Amino acid sequence: MAMELPRVVFFGRSGSDALRFFDLDLADWSGARILDCPGGPGSLVAVARREGVQAVAVDPQYGLPAADLEKRCREDLQLTMERMAQSAAIRPDFDLEAYGRSKLEALQDFLSDRLAYPEAYLAASLPCLPFENGSFDLVLCGHLLFAYAPRADGGVFELGCFDLAWHQAALAELLRISRRQVRLYPAHTGTRPARIHPYVEPLLAGLPTPWRGHLQSTGYDQGFEGVTPMLLLERGGAD
Ligand SMILES: C[S@@+](CC[C@H](N)C(=O)[O-])C[C@H]1O[C@@H](n2cnc3c(N)ncnc32)[C@H](O)[C@@H]1O
Repeated sequence: MAMELPRVVFFGRSGSDALRFFDLDLADWSGARILDCPGGPGSLVAVARREGVQAVAVDPQYGLPAADLEKRCREDLQLTMERMAQSAAIRPDFDLEAYGRSKLEALQDFLSDRLAYPEAYLAASLPCLPFENGSFDLVLCGHLLFAYAPRADGGVFELGCFDLAWHQAALAELLRISRRQVRLYPAHTGTRPARIHPYVEPLLAGLPTPWRGHLQSTGYDQGFEGVTPMLLLERGGAD
């Protein structure tokens, strides 16, 4: 059975996993402002802070109390792992137990960091974010665009709301608030084998001037086989 989810799940990767799938070296972004959208209960903001880089995260769920976020994360992680275990898209040799453990570690890091720095976690949703144009040097978007496209278009979502038109609006918003770069992962399908997501080409073709973009492979493995790149977009002439 192909990978399939009934809702956008609320669990997050560890900061070190996120650095891997965004092919990101925080040392290159010293003094920069970074946005993680959506942050989920992931630990990228906490890890960036410990590395001396200022980052904030947004997620529609951040208005909820910590206990509700933790409960939702644990339930959604369980659901996702059950679906991954049944899915033909995930390699049978993939270590799902380790996958689950790292998400629970990320959850604890997220909960502590949000308690200590609540101002770094804002409730908001694509395609409408509460930031001025060019507010961030780097905007990161993990496991929302492409991943939650309708099943028929290579995503894992049972619903059809995140179609190409939604992706175009969401990407325009991510570009609007970035001064330099936007990185999106995954840029591949949830199929076996994984392929370049069919929305990549129309999104690249519709990039406004002076943005340009390319696919970049990463060292991140979450059980897919095939082509599993991220999409890196840069504002031309900004560097
Ligand atoms: C699978 S998590 C990804 C979290 C993290 N970026 C990662 O890669 O681990 C997907 C997140 O998208 C959030 N989400 C759902 N709809 C959204 C929207 N319209 N705009 C922004 N985030 C959304 C969910 O609340 C959830 O936390």
